[in-house]
Amino acid sequence: MSALPTTHREVRLTARPEGPLRPDHFHTAEVALPEPGPGQVLVRNRLMAVAAIMDTVIRGADGLPVPPAAPGAVPDGPAIGTVVAAPGTGLRPGDLVSHGRGWREYAVVDAADVERLDPGALPDPAAHLSQGLIAWLGVVRGAAVRPGDTVLVTAAAGGVGSLAGQFARLRGATRVIGTTSSREKGHRLVAELGYDVAVTRDAGPVEDQLRAAAPDGVDAVVDNVGGDQLLAALAVARRGARIGLIGSLAAQLSGSFAAPTRIDTGSLILGGITLRGISGSDHLDAIPEWSREFGRALRDGTLVFPHTRLPGIDQAPRALCELLAGRHVGAVLVEL
Ligand SMILES: NC(=O)c1ccc[n+]([C@@H]2O[C@H](COP(=O)([O-])OP(=O)(O)OC[C@H]3O[C@@H](n4cnc5c(N)ncnc54)[C@H](OP(=O)(O)O)[C@@H]3O)[C@@H](O)[C@H]2O)c1
Repeated sequence: MSALPTTHREVRLTARPEGPLRPDHFHTAEVALPEPGPGQVLVRNRLMAVAAIMDTVIRGADGLPVPPAAPGAVPDGPAIGTVVAAPGTGLRPGDLVSHGRGWREYAVVDAADVERLDPGALPDPAAHLSQGLIAWLGVVRGAAVRPGDTVLVTAAAGGVGSLAGQFARLRGATRVIGTTSSREKGHRLVAELGYDVAVTRDAGPVEDQLRAAAPDGVDAVVDNVGGDQLLAALAVARRGARIGLIGSLAAQLSGSFAAPTRIDTGSLILGGITLRGISGSDHLDAIPEWSREFGRALRDGTLVFPHTRLPGIDQAPRALCELLAGRHVGAVLVEL
């Protein structure tokens, strides 16, 4: 422990935002290096991820399984790093681990909340910070994608959507359609992420574009957006279509997790259409199958982990704000 610095940096929330989240809602503080107690682990964080759900948690919302981040507090978020000290635990200095206390250069974490990672398990350890599990759940358990399906993924360029389209293809989908904000991002969906066609919000009504992209309708939907995009998906859903509800970005990014949407339940009944909400915490049993499939696909190159890395802890607020504004494709990571 003697070669360690006496201080490190962490990012704190300064105020709960009223409008869109901005970098000045955070500040970077230099604080004393924390010391692990018995059964705790001191980790030198190396890489953290930001995600849309953090905006929702920072604002707080009824029904979320976690309390809102209080002003002055360091937000939580996934990170990977190396163990520095772990007295009284089975972990050793140098072990690669993941945990939920990002936004700081060093973290003290209860050993029970740390997962030891096999450094060789994935071609790039950064992929441990992917939203791959929820993307896989959306495809496999939410939309129950089958070979031959035409699949729609909304918010297809995001951390979840950029992997959901690829998992749909691996599960045998023959046509994969993704929605995003701009034609420019739409080109990247097709060129880099294996989508057949992109539907973009800057090119007219989503439903009209969907009818053109899928004249026979869609069999399966992984919906990250809700609202009008969910209604457009339902308008083109084929008989027996399966809709996995993963997120409600349209409402979330307007400041509400609640996403009331007026759905014609009669057409669901007549069409035998299933809507299934997926909360990742209900599906932890899927982790072994997902991680085998994810690791194998990354290693054999049938799946890529699209992401952007921003250098330095003081870039974390910008990373989150840019992700929310749709400035990137795939996950957004910060090197710590
Ligand atoms: N169910 C679960 O257990 C679970 C777990 C994790 C995450 N999630 C949810 O999964 C969803 C996707 O998360 P993520 O981290 O991958 O987010 P993300 O898609 O990486 O980030 C936000 C994206 O939303 C899009 N966007 C911005 N404004 C929008 C609007 N008005 N309408 C539609 N899209 C808009 C932007 O992409 P474009 O520029 O392409 O529009 C932006 O890139 C979120 O709702 C998140 O809460 C659910």
